[in-house]
Amino acid sequence: MQIDPLRHTKADNYKLLTNLVAPRPIAWISSRNPDGVVNLAPFSFFNAVGSDPLYLIVSIGDNDAGGPKDTARNIRASGEFVVNLVTEELFDAMNLSAADFPPEQSELEAAHLHAAPSVRIGAPRVAEAQASLECKLHSAQSLGANTLFIGEVVMFHVADHLLGPRLHIENFAPIGRLGSPSVYCRTTDRFDVARISYEQWRRGPAEPPVTAAD
Ligand SMILES: Cc1cc2nc3c(=O)[nH]c(=O)nc-3n(C[C@H](O)[C@H](O)[C@H](O)COP(=O)(O)O)c2cc1C
Repeated sequence: MQIDPLRHTKADNYKLLTNLVAPRPIAWISSRNPDGVVNLAPFSFFNAVGSDPLYLIVSIGDNDAGGPKDTARNIRASGEFVVNLVTEELFDAMNLSAADFPPEQSELEAAHLHAAPSVRIGAPRVAEAQASLECKLHSAQSLGANTLFIGEVVMFHVADHLLGPRLHIENFAPIGRLGSPSVYCRTTDRFDVARISYEQWRRGPAEPPVTAAD
């Protein structure tokens, strides 16, 4: 079946896009407003897009009144934010932080979480998060009703128990967003498959090992 976005509502198109481009990681963004209130909210229009320098993107839509969400306003005003990553024990707090709290009320406090200082930026990270990325705003690009923020990662915070030899991340199981509005997945069902070079492909499948004839 073909579905032409021109013939459907914005709500239906949003539903199609976000249920097909899945699972998406969740950026749980802590930011600070000019009065020092720490804001916290989840965003799944999120991904890593550059490794040298380290860039990530987050796309934030306007609020229902057509204005910027608190996170977007804070990022523009301060030029910085923290992406905290969401693991299962933090799920309820993440979900609560998506409620439309007024700007003067901190979602961090409402969710009984704690702020931990960042190293290179002023906005704090979520102390309870297993991993957090301090980011400085690289640029912001308007995309219709969304704003795409590109952040440069300037510091990683990773819980010791996730770190294996040579900075390998082990047993990290962030929650993914599968579909809107509220379907999620775990990332605990893993498999590891080695990549294949062109030369290996050209040679074809490896011969089965020769076993001694009976
Ligand atoms: C898992 C999840 C992912 C979300 N992803 C986005 C997103 O990518 N972009 C967006 O604008 N809103 C997203 N939202 C909604 C915001 O979290 C919500 O509007 C929040 O109230 C914004 O808070 P703020 O005004 O404090 O910034 C998401 C909500 C949830 C629960």
